[in-house]
Amino acid sequence: MRVSLPGIARSGPGFRFRFAGHEIPAWPGETLAAALTSAGQLALSTNGPDERRGVFCGMGACGECTVLVDGRSQRACMVAAAPGMVVEPMPRRVVATSDAPVAAPAQLLACDLLIIGAGPAGLAAAEAAVGLSVIIIDERSKPGGQYFKQPGKGFTITPTALDAQFSEGAALIADVAASPAKLMAGRSAWSARRDGHHIVVETSGPEGPARITAARLIIATGATEKPWPMPGWTLPGVMTTGAAQTLLRSGAVSPGSKVLVAGNGPLNIQLANELLNAGVTVAAVVEQAPRPGLARAGSALAMARYDARLAVQGVRQLARLARAGVPLLFSHIVCRAEGESQVERAFVAATRPDGSLGPERGFEIDALCIGAGFQPQAEMARALGCRLEWQGGAMAVVREDDGRTSVGNVFVAGDGGGLGGARAALAQGTLAGLAVVADVKGGLSAAQLAQSQAQRRALVTARGFQAGLWQLFAPAHPTPTVHTPETLLCRCEGVRFGDVDALLAAGTNDPGSIKRATRLGMGRCQGRYCGPLLAARLAGDGPVGEGDLFAPRPPFKPLSIAELAAGAAP
Ligand SMILES: Cc1cc2nc3c(=O)[nH]c(=O)nc-3n(C[C@H](O)[C@H](O)[C@H](O)COP(=O)(O)OP(=O)(O)OC[C@H]3O[C@@H](n4cnc5c(N)ncnc54)[C@H](O)[C@@H]3O)c2cc1C
Ligand code: FES
Repeated sequence: MRVSLPGIARSGPGFRFRFAGHEIPAWPGETLAAALTSAGQLALSTNGPDERRGVFCGMGACGECTVLVDGRSQRACMVAAAPGMVVEPMPRRVVATSDAPVAAPAQLLACDLLIIGAGPAGLAAAEAAVGLSVIIIDERSKPGGQYFKQPGKGFTITPTALDAQFSEGAALIADVAASPAKLMAGRSAWSARRDGHHIVVETSGPEGPARITAARLIIATGATEKPWPMPGWTLPGVMTTGAAQTLLRSGAVSPGSKVLVAGNGPLNIQLANELLNAGVTVAAVVEQAPRPGLARAGSALAMARYDARLAVQGVRQLARLARAGVPLLFSHIVCRAEGESQVERAFVAATRPDGSLGPERGFEIDALCIGAGFQPQAEMARALGCRLEWQGGAMAVVREDDGRTSVGNVFVAGDGGGLGGARAALAQGTLAGLAVVADVKGGLSAAQLAQSQAQRRALVTARGFQAGLWQLFAPAHPTPTVHTPETLLCRCEGVRFGDVDALLAAGTNDPGSIKRATRLGMGRCQGRYCGPLLAARLAGDGPVGEGDLFAPRPPFKPLSIAELAAGAAP
């Protein structure tokens, strides 16, 4: 469903492309995912009527929305719709197309500093790395990352009418675009290795493969959302909260006309507000944490002490939902979804202190957005040998405030190393950029030293705010199990919880053996969603360790065999 957003207008003329024999209307700036969602075409990859998949992560991480575009497999969330395109649903188990073009040999590029990811952290790093030769790449067609995601290229923008989040991002992007840094959008890094004192990164993008050799690397790849496995979680129309927000903020498209938003954390409340503002019916907001009250006043006060403006914004968002009559169900979770070819209803229940669930309540909907928290995209740092440890429910990179890791010339800034939110990502990005300048130039100017001190203070503030925020959103009761033995643990390869439990019961309890026995982790997402679920199962009640994780292996992002061959050439 197309919606209007303040300051963002579709600029004509509209055009059409074909999908599974249907004519689909689209506008410049829309991704295939946005145009197909608007047209009610939610099943994008399929393996017969019982196994349909649609947009899930909306950020190029899961591969569920892969379609055949003029014969080539592409992620619908990452590709702009174009006039005359012929798009087909992707058969889920076909891995090669016969007429893939041969890729040109990889371009060879070199720089002082390569930054992977142009979100708040990567952009801030590029802005700070004055005087160095810098390349910054991002697999999305527009820089901005999650927090500063911008409307697609074809939209007409009235800067004065944009919300503060859009405008702050637009200003930062403009600064970096005007700097000597080489900004390469639409380019993904699929492999990274150490070569003597350098880091060599293989990338793929619209102009073909490129191998980038850098003296220093800043990884700023952000986070993905944690999976919430339950019956029906693979139905088209069930997606992450971030995916829905990307459809909305980048494409002015709602995931549905009646949307249930569920999970844990402030992003769900923000999305529900944004949907409401766009005229969409929000069936309910289902939050696992208890209703904020006196018992959590300390956390709220801590947040206000660190950032009063953001704390007030959160209160306003809750009040707006309440005024609009949206049911706010605290201490509740979503436990299953149903539908024929797409989600039609979802069931929620109250959590109880003993970990059980109260009676179910059903909602008739056409979209379900689940945001269950975040996990860092740390596979590249792991592959490069950076040390990781279990922190706050996810594996995080061990790093200093400026992002420096256990590998001297590799920095990880922002949510890609551990979760801190956009303000922390901005501060840490700047600190990482300055640290590289200091390394290369042998020191910083007085102005840069002052900038570094200011950003260290900003980092402390951002961390204090985040700590208060997550205390406020801490669930009061143990998380009940909502999956069954039939529920898919590995969405990509169709491996069920029951299949894994049978192997564990038989004594197969290392990730490599389970992977070989079931193909779990070998799918399009490269284990991003099933890997953490398996690791948690292997770790039991203890912290997850390296031995519970799959070995980090490229390709980290999908690419064609032709690009692989071109990138692998000496
Ligand atoms: C789905 C989602 C939605 C969010 N929405 C909000 C929100 O509405 N409000 C809020 O306050 N916070 C939000 N957050 C949190 C906030 O956005 C983050 O804290 C902040 O954006 C972190 O900045 P970052 O630069 O570390 O990462 P990101 O902003 O995530 O940027 C990472 C960038 O790296 C790119 N990338 C990743 N891997 C590769 C690769 N291999 N090759 C090339 N490029 C790559 C991505 O395309 C992305 O642009 C959201 C987080 C997520 C994950
Ligand atoms: S969920 Fe993608 S490989 Fe398992």
